[in-house]
Order: sequence, then structure tokens, then C-alpha cells
Amino acid sequence: MDRKEIICECFLVSRGAIMDAIKEHNLKTVEDVGEYTNAGTGCGGCVEKIQKILDEMNKK
Ligand code: FES
Repeated sequence: MDRKEIICECFLVSRGAIMDAIKEHNLKTVEDVGEYTNAGTGCGGCVEKIQKILDEMNKK
């Protein structure tokens, strides 16, 4: 897994930045992630990828 991979092209938010925000603030939804990182609040094209990261992190 590449933390530097850009998940949200609109705001250039990396996978690592999203994972850190989820962990730090205990985020549960795509909307939460958008609030902290802006990811997913532009074209919406990355929402599915954000959801996948959330699912992976919150199942543990
Ligand atoms: S790629 Fe994330 S909102 Fe457009």
C-alpha cells in the first residue's frame, strides 16, 4: 500500500493523509473525511476510494 498515492485528485489528498485523519479523529464516514481533509468534496469521483479506506480501517 502506497501512502503517497493520491486518492483525491481535486484536492491532491494522499492515502496517507486520509488514513492519518481517520485515525487521529476516529472518522466514520466519507463526510467526516471531507471535513478534515477536503477529500471527496469536489467532483466526488474519489468517494468510493475513501469509503474503501474507511471500511479497511474500521473493521479492525
Ligand atoms: S477527486 Fe476527490 S473530490 Fe474530485
